[in-house]
Amino acid sequence: MAEAVLGGSAEDVSIKEAGLRYEVDGEIATITLDRPEKRNAQTFATWSALARIGDDLPEQVRIVVVQGEGPSFSAGIDLRMFTPEGVPGQGSFSSVAQLDNVSFEQRIEQAQQGFLWLRRPEIVSIAAVHGHAIGAGFQLALACDLRIVADDVKFCMKEPALGLVPDLTGTKPLVDLVGTAKAIDICLTARFVDAQEAFRIGLAERVVSGAELTQAVRDKAAELLSTNRDAATATKRLLQGARGRTLEEQTAAERVEQAARIKALFAVS
Ligand code: ACO
Repeated sequence: MAEAVLGGSAEDVSIKEAGLRYEVDGEIATITLDRPEKRNAQTFATWSALARIGDDLPEQVRIVVVQGEGPSFSAGIDLRMFTPEGVPGQGSFSSVAQLDNVSFEQRIEQAQQGFLWLRRPEIVSIAAVHGHAIGAGFQLALACDLRIVADDVKFCMKEPALGLVPDLTGTKPLVDLVGTAKAIDICLTARFVDAQEAFRIGLAERVVSGAELTQAVRDKAAELLSTNRDAATATKRLLQGARGRTLEEQTAAERVEQAARIKALFAVS
C-alpha cells in the first residue's frame, strides 16, 4: 500500500521514461527536460531520475547544464497530481495525504535529492531557462548555481496560489538571491517575474535572446572550465559557506583551503 501511494515504482523508471534526456560530453553534462508536449511538467519519477543522474555523475564532469525542450523550461509539477487518479504508478496528492507525516516527509526528502546535488562544490550547475519556469520549474532553476535566461522567460512560484508551499529546495536560494522581502513578494503573490526583473534582482546572471541561449551557456561553461579544477571546487566550498560564517570563521576557512592548495601545488614529494 505505502509503496504504491509513495510511488516506489518511480525509482525503476528510465531517464527517458521520466521525461529527461541526459548527455555527457567530456567535462560537461547536459540534462534536458524532455516532455515538451506537456511543457516539461515534472513528476516524482523526474526527481528520482534527477537524483540518480547526480549519484552516477562521472567524476570528470565539472559543468552541469539543465535546460528544457520546447516552448517552456518547465510548467512545474504535473497537474495530474491534483486529480483523484493522479500520475500512473506515482499516486496523487489525495493518496499521499493519507500517509503519516514521517512517511510523507520522507517522500518529499527523496524528491529534494533530485535538486540538492546540483549545488555540489565539484560542479557548477547552469540553468538555461526560457519560456515558463513555474513552481517546480522555478525551483529547479533555483537549484542551479547560475541562471542564464532567454528574454521570454517567466518565473512564477505558483505553489501558494495552489495551497502549497515551495518544498523542492527553492526557498533558501530564492531568499539568498533576492532577499526576504522580494521573495515574499514573488511567492505570496505567485506573480510572473520577467527577464528584465529577474536580471535586476539577481535571479538571472545574463539575459539573451532565445536564439543566443545555447551559445551563451556554452560560453559560460568554457569560461568556468578555464580555471583550475581543484581550486574551483575549494573556492566554491568557501563561497557557499561564507553566509553562515563570521568574518573570523571565514578567514580561518580560507587559510585551511589555501594550505591544502599550496601543498598540493608546491609540496615536494
Ligand atoms: N502538468 C501537466 N500538464 C501540463 C502542465 C502541468 N503542470 N502544464 C501544461 N500542461 C499540458 C497542458 O495540459 C497541455 O496538454 P494538452 O495539449 O494535452 O491539453 C499542454 O501541456 C500544453 O499546455 P498549454 O497550457 O496549452 O500551453 P501554453 O504554452 O499555452 O501555456 C503554461 C503554458 C503557461 C505553462 C500553462 O500550461 C500552465 O499554466 N500550466 C500549469 C502551470 C502550473 O500551475 N504548474 C504547477 C505549479 S506548482 C508546482 O510546481 C509544485
